[in-house]
Amino acid sequence: MRDFLADLQRLEEAGSGAIRAAAAIDRLEEVRVEILGRKARLTQLLRSVRDLPPEHRRTAGSEANRVKQRLQELLEQRTAELTADQKEEGPEVDLTLPGRPRWRGARHPCTLVTDEICGIFKELGFVRARGPEAETTWYNFTALNTPLDHPAADEQDTFYLDADVVLRTHTSPVQARVMEKTKPPVRIVVPGVVYRRDPFDASHAPAFDQIEGLAVDEGINFVEFKATIGYFVRRFFGEDTATRFRPSFFPFTEPSAELDVSCAICHGEGCSACKGTGWVEIMGAGMVDPAVFDNVGYDSERYTGYAFGMGVGRIAMLRYRIPDIRLLYEGDVRFLGQFARA
Ligand code: DAH
Repeated sequence: MRDFLADLQRLEEAGSGAIRAAAAIDRLEEVRVEILGRKARLTQLLRSVRDLPPEHRRTAGSEANRVKQRLQELLEQRTAELTADQKEEGPEVDLTLPGRPRWRGARHPCTLVTDEICGIFKELGFVRARGPEAETTWYNFTALNTPLDHPAADEQDTFYLDADVVLRTHTSPVQARVMEKTKPPVRIVVPGVVYRRDPFDASHAPAFDQIEGLAVDEGINFVEFKATIGYFVRRFFGEDTATRFRPSFFPFTEPSAELDVSCAICHGEGCSACKGTGWVEIMGAGMVDPAVFDNVGYDSERYTGYAFGMGVGRIAMLRYRIPDIRLLYEGDVRFLGQFARA
């Protein structure tokens, strides 16, 4: 009997200690199972009362029940305390955390470069024009003196939406669209996205930005073109930038040329951006072929003009030293967010 009572006392002390020490509701539930559960020592003691000699049963029984009741009360108390604590804590807000900056958009590098280029041409009297991205084969090829069976059409053979409708492969069709609706003189720049059956690699993208330019009037010659483009290049890339025209071929210009600028990164010494040559090609250009004037109803005996088309991505890569064109077209905000805020 003395053992029985001593056991009880030990359980009462240990139990109330464990209840007080429980710092969370989950832990308190574990404590409850440990001290009052079916396998708990106290439960066993209560069960063993009937095995005691009859004269001890009453005292043992009532003492064991008292301990059980006391522990139950303590558990309830502690449960109430812990739930109150939790409520006081409220939602998990850490007022010491720095504020979250509000997300602000940035202009895409191609947009920045496009705006700058169109801004320079605006000073020279060029206005912006736009045209559709889903273009008819007439405007994309035929009006530009490129028969559909011409190898130049093959080279750009691309995303057809219909037998006669294609995602435009260049911004040049807008030349024809504008000339059809406007009498000379015409001076336009045409920014826009174009589509090609090109791989997506470090220097190609299947959809990319171009700017087309067109100037038509009486008496325009190659000298005016060179002067205009030279002015643009020095304004955009810097006074010390050299230019170089190379003969080329486009069905819609005659003569045709490609324009290189001295590499803005290595200043002509040769680096990976210019593949060691010191020059970077930035546009195709030429004097508008009289056949194009005939196609849009301009008098090709009276008018002359020049046209050019440049790749905005390549120019943005030079301006911002971007090593891979895919960075421009993957839409990763960690990259794009580095450019000037809108
Ligand atoms: N449209 C040509 C291209 O995408 C670029 C071009 C070349 C445009 C010569 C022109 C031009 O206006 O005269 O490859």
